[in-house]
Amino acid sequence: MSSSDVGGGEKMRVVCVTGGSGCIGSWLVRLLLDRGYSVHATVQNLKDEAEKRHLEALEGADSRLRLFQMDLLDYDSVVAAVRDCGGVFHLASPCIVDQVLDPEKELLDPAIKGTINVLAAAKEVGVMRVVLTSSISAITPSPSWPADRVKAEDCWTDVDYCNQKGLWYPLSKTLAEKAAWEFAKEKELDLVVVNPGTVMGPVIPPRLNASMLMLVRLLQGCTETYQDFFMGSVHFRDVALAHILVYENPSAKGRHLCVEAISHYGDFASKVAELCPDYNVPRLPRDTQPGLLRARDGGKKLMDLGLDFIPMEQIIKDSMESLKAKGFI
Ligand SMILES: NC(=O)c1ccc[n+]([C@@H]2O[C@H](COP(=O)([O-])OP(=O)(O)OC[C@H]3O[C@@H](n4cnc5c(N)ncnc54)[C@H](OP(=O)(O)O)[C@@H]3O)[C@@H](O)[C@H]2O)c1
Repeated sequence: MSSSDVGGGEKMRVVCVTGGSGCIGSWLVRLLLDRGYSVHATVQNLKDEAEKRHLEALEGADSRLRLFQMDLLDYDSVVAAVRDCGGVFHLASPCIVDQVLDPEKELLDPAIKGTINVLAAAKEVGVMRVVLTSSISAITPSPSWPADRVKAEDCWTDVDYCNQKGLWYPLSKTLAEKAAWEFAKEKELDLVVVNPGTVMGPVIPPRLNASMLMLVRLLQGCTETYQDFFMGSVHFRDVALAHILVYENPSAKGRHLCVEAISHYGDFASKVAELCPDYNVPRLPRDTQPGLLRARDGGKKLMDLGLDFIPMEQIIKDSMESLKAKGFI
């Protein structure tokens, strides 16, 4: 299936990737360029070589990549980036899992107001389909979900629980996704959502994202068990492909959980320990995520669209190889 199937023909071949400089964004830009798309990628600071160089080095970038400096809270900068595009992939959002001093400013405003700015700009310039990168963190933590029911696309993170426990990142992703669905319904904008788990694999930019940092910390012996978080490992390539699949398939609707498998963080840690015997990976308790029901087919909607997920073992091996090659470990 090709992008012309969603309607809009050539215009659909010009797309904007917000957060194009990031770890997932760079992979998406790479795969879009490989498929012949013209891409507008946004970065926060065009003067920062570390945000640009890896994008400019991609195959096809010299003729089909344009970089835009964009601040999610500056509407005009968002409009400039999405103008002339038939599709928008909205990835830009702060991803901070460490302590946050000012949740409103650091996470909630850029995530929620930023998402609305991107959708409003997309609507204003006549974009035909928006793909939003939400997260498994907009599905769980959801402690009052029935214990015998698998958490999937029909489950939403419990906003009150996040507020009480200061879980600002899941709160930001949940409120941003909810705001996006409301906007899309009210303004009749075509929206599809991808909800990735913990994304890892070969890193393209010179900086690591939060999920790769989590792996580095585990290799350094960190014993955090992330009990309010479900470990759904997924490869960068598959998350990028998932975005393209839901963009190109008119039948793709709603949310798409994007995970190879859901496991306890403790199980993930023991797999890392087995594959990386030279590192000081801690032994964690088996039941690190209370109430976890493992969904074997967590990524079923995407598999039905043709995605063949890379298994966890390969995700860990590819991540390790990249971390070593780039000198992070
Ligand atoms: N990593 C995961 O495991 C995971 C899982 C589920 C969902 N996600 C989601 O995937 C998306 C990309 O995450 P990532 O892992 O690729 O993280 P990343 O490497 O940190 O990328 C984040 C991107 O967002 C941009 N950004 C952040 N705040 C911005 C602002 N105020 N204005 C404009 N741009 C801003 C960053 O720009 P600069 O590079 O210029 O700073 C960067 O391009 C996020 O929406 C994240 O919530 C990630």
